[in-house]
Order: sequence, then C-alpha cells, then structure tokens
Amino acid sequence: MTGLERLSKFKHEREINNKKTVENITTPDDSLDTIKTEALARVVNDLAPDFSPDLLNQQQNRELETKVQEATTAVLTENGKFMSRAERQQLIREVMNEIVGLGPIEPLVRDPDVSEIMVNGPNQVYVERKGRIYPTDVRFRDDEHVLHVIEKIISPLGRHIDETSPMVDARLPDGSRVNAIIPPLAIHGPTLTIRKFSVEPYTVEDLISFGTLNSHMALFFKACVEGRLNIIVSGGTGTGKTTTLNVLSSFIPHQERIVTIEDAAELKLQQEHVVSLESRPANIEGKGQVTIRDLVINSLRMRPDRIVVGEARGGEALDMLQAMNTGHDGSLTTVHANSPRDTLSRIETMVLMAGMDLPVRAIREQIASAVNLVVQISRFLDGSRKVTQVTEVVGMESDTITLQDIFVYEQKGFDEQGRVNGRFRPTGIVPKCITSFGAKGINLPLDVFQPRADSVRVVS
Ligand SMILES: Nc1ncnc2c1ncn2[C@@H]1O[C@H](COP(=O)(O)OP(=O)(O)OP(=O)(O)O)[C@@H](O)[C@H]1O
Ligand SMILES: [Mg+2]
Repeated sequence: MTGLERLSKFKHEREINNKKTVENITTPDDSLDTIKTEALARVVNDLAPDFSPDLLNQQQNRELETKVQEATTAVLTENGKFMSRAERQQLIREVMNEIVGLGPIEPLVRDPDVSEIMVNGPNQVYVERKGRIYPTDVRFRDDEHVLHVIEKIISPLGRHIDETSPMVDARLPDGSRVNAIIPPLAIHGPTLTIRKFSVEPYTVEDLISFGTLNSHMALFFKACVEGRLNIIVSGGTGTGKTTTLNVLSSFIPHQERIVTIEDAAELKLQQEHVVSLESRPANIEGKGQVTIRDLVINSLRMRPDRIVVGEARGGEALDMLQAMNTGHDGSLTTVHANSPRDTLSRIETMVLMAGMDLPVRAIREQIASAVNLVVQISRFLDGSRKVTQVTEVVGMESDTITLQDIFVYEQKGFDEQGRVNGRFRPTGIVPKCITSFGAKGINLPLDVFQPRADSVRVVS
C-alpha cells in the first residue's frame, strides 16, 4: 500500500470513526479522541498527494509539526476546550505519531528501556522492560487503528496482511523483529509483537555484567569457538538464544568466511566477511517458499568456513549434522529446548522430520559425533537470563548419548529486592574437547575448570 492509499484509508476510517464518536461522546476521553481525530484529519486533508512520512527531512518535519499545532489549537478553540500547555504538547505529539510514527506505540518504540512491545488487540498493550513484562496504559481506538499501524510497519517492506494471509513475520530497518497476526486467527483483534534489539548488540562483556555468565565461562566459550567446536545454544522462548548465539559468533576469527541462515536476519556479526541468508515463506498461491533447510544445503556450496543457523527447527538438523560430520565443523545454532538432554532428543525428532528412515541408534551416533557442546540458558523469575548448564557431549554408551556438565548455575534463592541469588560453579570436570586445543594453538588455563570456594559469585 502506498502512503497515499494509507492516507485515504485513514480518511475513510475517520469518517466511520466520526460517526461513531458523534453517536457516543460520553466520557472526557472520547471527546479528547474526537479532537485528536479531527486535528489529524485536517492536517491529513492538507497533505500533498505524494506525501510520504518516511521521506521527511528535518525542515519538513518541523513544518508538519507547526501545521499539527495550528490544527490542534483551532479544533480545541472551536470545541471550547481548555488544555494546559503540557496537555496540548502531548496531544500534538500524539497526532504527530499518527502521521509520521507508529501511533500510540511510538513512544514505546523510542523508549530504549523497552525491549518488547506486545499489542493484543486495541485495548491491551504490554511491554517488556529489563526482562519483566508490564501492562501499559496505551490504547488504540479500535481494531482498524491497530491494523493501520501494522500496515504502516509492513507495507514499506513489501509485505501485506489480510484475511487470506493473516500472519506476517518481518524485520524493521533497525533490525527489530515484527510479527503480526489478525482475526480470524487472532480472536481478540489484530495482534502485534515487536522484539527490539539494542542498536549495539550485546557483547560478551555485557552478558558478564548482566550476570548471564562469568569470565571463566567466557574464556572457555572463546576457546571452543576458535577451536571449531560445534555448539548448540539451547533455551526456551525469549531466553536469549539469539543474543547468546551472536556473542558466541563474535569469537569467530575475522579471516573466516561466515554464512548465516535465519528466518528473519537478527544476527549482527561484527566480522567483515559475512554472507547473510534469509528464508522466505510461500506467497499467497503457496509458491516460492525457501526453507532454512534449503538454505543450509545451498550454503554448503558457498565455501563457508562457518555456518551459523539462527534456529534449527526441522529437517535442516539432518543436513547440519551431516555437514558437521563431514568437515564443516565450528557450526553454531540454537534449539528450543529445556535442557541439554532435551536438546538432543529435539534434534533426534528433527532428523526424523527430515524424512530420512534412519535407525534411532544411527541418528544418535551422528548427533554424538557432531555436537560438541550445549549451552543451556534460562530466564529467571526476576527477568534475568543465565547460562544454567554448559554441557559437553562425550560419546555413546550402548544406546545413550553421554553428557557431562562443565559449568552449572546454582541458585541459592532470592535477595531482598527479589533478584536471583546464586553462583556459577565449574563441576571440576576438564572437558575432553580441550585435548584438541593445543594442536590448534589455543591456550586455555585449566584453572577455569577448578571449583573453588571463592568461585565467582554472582548476584544480579
Ligand atoms: N543475557 C541477557 N540479559 C538480559 N537480556 C537479554 C539477554 N539476552 C537476551 N536478552 C533480551 O531478551 C530478549 C530476547 O532475546 P533473544 O531474541 O536473544 O531471545 P531468543 O531466545 O532468541 O528468543 P526467541 O525464542 O523468540 O527466538 C531481547 O530483548 C534481548 O535483548
Ligand atoms: Mg531467537
């Protein structure tokens, strides 16, 4: 939809809305809404036909703001409504947000403390701040208003949403991830989820300062990535898998050629030689789908030194295992699972999904020889994320894959502020994998694996 179409759609909405509000102006909020709608309509009616909110320069933005200011003051006067300067400024900002921003959620989009915005229909908007979810006072006028904002987000990306394709995954230019799903699939109205990513991706130092891991674990991870181990980051939804994968990828030496494969390109690698691939859903006719698996197969012909797959969810697990076992070592990916053991059984299921009729033992052998390390992360009640287990895959014993924990997180309880209290503890086991490090010129002091009474205590 072009900017113009959007605006005419808005004008149409306004007519409907005006009818509605004329019928039931009962509360002060309703009258405020009418004033806002009327001021907005006057400005929109005045805009040039080729107006595009995305292309405004600073000067044009200021001019637009002046127009909004004039229109708002005029409507307020006509309605005999008095407002303090601060209230009027707020109203002007809201009207501006409707024209050049994302309407009611624009302040949330701009708030650097908000990491996730969840719009569940017009009357319910939640945000995540510092890992915790909070309700907000933000409201939309109605379903149409939410839909309008969804379209504003996705139409510049060449995507569209309607009853025939009621779900959209997209990525904003700043890297934020967007999902929209509308009725009839979303029962309570158009639903929008925006996962913001900090402009500067988190570094390993950031994660250490958040208490997600400690410096000894970071040293070990760096050695494992440089030593080309195949590593899986495992965790539940929103636990920080992609973030951790990004941090692990930062340890990949700069001279290597990296191919990343994701549904929506979220990884932000700092290396120069990176090729990023993104899968594609089928179009309305059900054609043109390119899956993660297709991209994994294709990437093997791209002479990668490393393959980083955003999330293994299906048949690609088989191709990844085969690649890892045939010289494409040093691969990194994430799996949605609740423990390292669970990760392995998820992979087993994914391989079966690939449609290959392999005996379970053969699959397990492939997994045991391909996967070296599982990094388990969890989100705690206080919103913090922690690496709760670092587990090495050692081999097979009869039909079972053997695992050994190298680091674990021990939660002691909560402090007075309700924050998780505990420590990271090396189990004392020296991982088998480090025997290969020496030959690769990687120096890792063995005392990172020594459990000590004073081993780094973390309260965060
Ligand atoms: N270690 C961390 N400490 C604090 N916040 C974090 C940490 N890791 C990630 N986050 C924040 O948590 C949110 C989810 O992170 P991320 O996208 O990495 O999770 P995910 O497990 O990949 O989610 P999904 O299951 O939806 O793919 C983001 O807002 C991110 O900034
Ligand atoms: Mg993710």
